[in-house]
Amino acid sequence: MACDEVKVEVSNGVRVIRMDRPDKKNALTIPMYDAIAEALRGANDDKETRVSVLLGVPGAFSAGNDINDFSKMALAGALGEPIVAFLDTLATSEKPLIAGVDGLAIGIGTTMLFHCDYVVASDRSLFKTPFTDLALVPEAASTLLVPRIMGHARAFELLCMGEAFDAVAFEKAGAVNKVVSADELEAATMEAAAKIAAKPVGAMRLSRHLMRNASVDDIKGRIREEAEAFAMQLRSAEAQAAFAAFLNKK
Ligand code: COA
Repeated sequence: MACDEVKVEVSNGVRVIRMDRPDKKNALTIPMYDAIAEALRGANDDKETRVSVLLGVPGAFSAGNDINDFSKMALAGALGEPIVAFLDTLATSEKPLIAGVDGLAIGIGTTMLFHCDYVVASDRSLFKTPFTDLALVPEAASTLLVPRIMGHARAFELLCMGEAFDAVAFEKAGAVNKVVSADELEAATMEAAAKIAAKPVGAMRLSRHLMRNASVDDIKGRIREEAEAFAMQLRSAEAQAAFAAFLNKK
């Protein structure tokens, strides 16, 4: 499904998937989730693609789910099926996945990174998941993946307290591979992608599969478990009040 706010290009074995909604700091809408999922599925099926790269725009990787859509989901009483489909596709990507983060990575802008194999961040990046402030719960299997990567204490600070982490703190916590300046971000990300694309493709696929496969069912199960809790919270009075507060702040 074509979407002007997600641009996809394949060159030299690298599929670049760029979120491109700068006026809304790359807040993600349903057509954007559909387009990213389609690009990732395309990567699985495309012999030319050896690695996929997720990028945003200068200063904004993603400000998270579009909060207007949260209000619509609250009326429907569920986390949208396209979002769950997007998360499943992300969790089961068959090709290595790299992210290059510059600036804001909020909500799903942060949690999608835990499905990536390698993350480069600019030194002005900010990672934050204000789920509980919106009276919601974490998604994208982050309640499973984040404690595994950074331990319970830091995971609690991120996911339950909604504290912001800068790039260095995220690197120390094991969630970012490399921190560079904003000017260097895309070149450093593409350099990592080129390195991966140059490896023998079969060995790369098998090695990655061995690292990830044992957890896939747990991850897909947790995505659903979180979606149920998310749906319950979406319908709550405390969540309605939080969305209204954001949308009325202008
Ligand atoms: N959903 C919908 N719109 C969003 C958005 C989101 N998640 N994040 C940003 N926007 C919109 C703003 O409403 C604003 O729109 P406007 O120009 O029509 O007023 C525009 O993007 C620019 O954002 P603004 O708030 O002016 O930029 P900022 O640099 O001052 O602050 C943020 C950036 C990301 C800190 C702030 O926009 C924010 O807190 N967004 C919500 C993040 C969030 O809670 N996401 C969900 C996580 S679960």
